[in-house]
Amino acid sequence: MKEVKIESTLTVYDNFDELPKSVASLMQHAIEARQKSYSPYSKFSVGAALLLDNGEIITGSNQENASYPSGLCAERTAIYYAGAKYPEAKIVQMAIIAGSTIKQTMSPIPPCGACRQAIAEYEIKQETPIEIYFMGEIGKVVKSNSLANILPLVFDKSFL
Ligand code: THU
Repeated sequence: MKEVKIESTLTVYDNFDELPKSVASLMQHAIEARQKSYSPYSKFSVGAALLLDNGEIITGSNQENASYPSGLCAERTAIYYAGAKYPEAKIVQMAIIAGSTIKQTMSPIPPCGACRQAIAEYEIKQETPIEIYFMGEIGKVVKSNSLANILPLVFDKSFL
């Protein structure tokens, strides 16, 4: 028997203003996408923006449904759209902003497990890391250098 330690390193920016200009601009796209969230049930709105290696920016927001499980998170809305529209492009960066519309969300909101799995698929497919930045409505912004960093023990095609 042995114990295995899994570690990951994240970068934490104190606030939006500390972000490099290009990342702040991508986050601004996520902020605008969040305004298009359709989240009447959870009252929790999320925006995501992807920068592709062809220079395109793809955005998405969470889209809910009266049949709750039929809704989709912002990150998957964006990433599936990117995959559908630019199947050959690589995703360079992803910016995510999330928060309740009924109280202030100050803690950085990471992508949910299902979204991490979806992002992992594209990171593995393109063979280059996707930088991920996530924040609440205000406050700290967390950067992960790759999806793999926030999804240890990923399930991937090698198991099939
Ligand atoms: N949501 C996202 O859009 N992304 C996540 O990573 C977590 C959750 C959405 C789904 C649902 O519309 C609302 O936030 C509350 O869970």
